[in-house]
Amino acid sequence: MSRGIPRVRAGECHVWIADAVRVPSLLELLDARERARHDAFVRDRDRALYLTAHALVRQLVAAQLGTGPREVVFTQVCRHCDRPEPHGKPGLADSSLEFSLSHSGDRVAVALSLAGPVGVDIEETARQPDLPQTVLAAVERAELERLPAGRRALGFTRYWARKEAVLKATGDGLMVEPALLTVSAPGAPAALLEWRKRAEPHRAVRLHDVDVGNGYRAAVAVLGDECRVVCHTARYDGDGTLRTAPAVTVTSDRC
Ligand SMILES: CC(C)(COP(=O)(O)OP(=O)(O)OC[C@H]1O[C@@H](n2cnc3c(N)ncnc32)[C@H](O)[C@@H]1OP(=O)(O)O)[C@@H](O)C(=O)NCCC(=O)NCCS
Repeated sequence: MSRGIPRVRAGECHVWIADAVRVPSLLELLDARERARHDAFVRDRDRALYLTAHALVRQLVAAQLGTGPREVVFTQVCRHCDRPEPHGKPGLADSSLEFSLSHSGDRVAVALSLAGPVGVDIEETARQPDLPQTVLAAVERAELERLPAGRRALGFTRYWARKEAVLKATGDGLMVEPALLTVSAPGAPAALLEWRKRAEPHRAVRLHDVDVGNGYRAAVAVLGDECRVVCHTARYDGDGTLRTAPAVTVTSDRC
């Protein structure tokens, strides 16, 4: 059951942030493939993240399409190969609604957009992505060096969330070298500044930070015209009832 899910309108992108839950009844919303993926996780924490993200996507999408969560049909398209097994950017069959999901730590982010293809990324700041500095462009590495030493880890996470959001919006994912993209410095408003060797077709990239509170950084990218970004929180009761509310979060630092 879900209560008061807001409608996404033309030209809008909505982002929901939720804490991972272990509510067994949510499993009934998933299809056989999703359940198999869920069951394959070794760690309970990863199962909870997966379950929450995929149940939430189904419920949010279903509310927009006026259907039931189990009736939502997903597609997957890879820009880089034609291997038959499903992989690549997930989408919806027969709908202009676009979505993206991300999970990290104990939190998930889901974005729905009627403004163009969307990519969302959330990163837990306590667990630095296990990545070399070379995923950053030279100018980004230089900016990071200019930050006080104690703020560099947060700066890196901010850079990474912005880059992944862009690469998920286009569907390239990590098949494109992240260092080819330059995004704005951590303390500056989010923007894609440069993308070297970008494959056609090009669409304008609208990049926004999403305030998800301390302990996490998140960003959302939409391909197309300027759009309105609206943020919400989502919460599950113990019986699986979904409640959403306008987001009220406070991030104490600017990185
Ligand atoms: C997608 C990717 C950028 C996300 O990495 P991440 O930070 O570890 O994970 P996130 O939680 O932020 O996002 C994962 C979600 O992104 C979505 N996703 C997967 N591939 C995607 C793509 N190419 N573009 C956009 N979104 C994608 C899925 O919904 C996935 O959720 P799920 O695994 O629960 O189904 C990265 O894993 C990647 O590039 N994967 C593609 C690898 C691949 O397909 N290689 C072979 C291509 S031929």
